[in-house]
Amino acid sequence: MAEEFDMTRVTVVVHPMVQHKLSILRDANTGSKQFREIVKELGLFEGYEATRDFPLEDVHVTTPVCKTVCKKISGRKVAVVPILRAGLGMVDGLLELVPAARVGHIGMYRDEETHEPHEYYCKMPADIDKRICLVVDPMLATGGSAIAAIQYLREQGVKDIRLLVIIAAPEGIKAVLDADENVRLFTCSIDERLNERAYIVPGLGDAGDRIFGTK
Ligand code: PRP
Ligand code: URA
Repeated sequence: MAEEFDMTRVTVVVHPMVQHKLSILRDANTGSKQFREIVKELGLFEGYEATRDFPLEDVHVTTPVCKTVCKKISGRKVAVVPILRAGLGMVDGLLELVPAARVGHIGMYRDEETHEPHEYYCKMPADIDKRICLVVDPMLATGGSAIAAIQYLREQGVKDIRLLVIIAAPEGIKAVLDADENVRLFTCSIDERLNERAYIVPGLGDAGDRIFGTK
């Protein structure tokens, strides 16, 4: 049966460049160097959508021609929070967009047999509870890793959490939205389903292994 979830909390980043780059990521013949570059670029594109509602304030600027009033982001503090390892691949793209962001790390791996997430490392900025958290991980499969990361951040007092993934399975989207009533999700694709090993179909395989060239 098709999964049902609230699409008002899900943004699918639809753009020809995104679709083109995603096709290269999916291709099993794409090497680690190009894979890494595209994961970083898609991180930036997703960040663009995930920060679309940031408020602006007036700022007075003198151009070479005259004085004028322009806009700047109005005091939003951001933390980029990669779920290790694969989430690291998206961090630099986000930091190009929001250079002043702090970075918090959540170490999580998925047990090959049970598919349950295991946390092994967490290090956050001291004021994490005052920041908008952009949680990044290329893959949302069962949702177990993202749910554990979001729960950890809620326990730290974080109010505004936005989860940025590149490919999401319907099962994972439903699980994440059901587990946390306020999180918002950004993805470049909603794929068909999970297979019997809880890998996303058609997906792109193991994102961490493809970014870091491991097996
Ligand atoms: C992958 C991926 C997500 C998780 C998704 O990481 O990067 O973190 O699996 O699966 P889930 O939605 O079912 O939890 P993995 O555990 O393989 O670790 P890695 O990043 O170190 O490769
Ligand atoms: N983790 C991945 O890297 N890929 C999947 O398809 C599922 C989990």
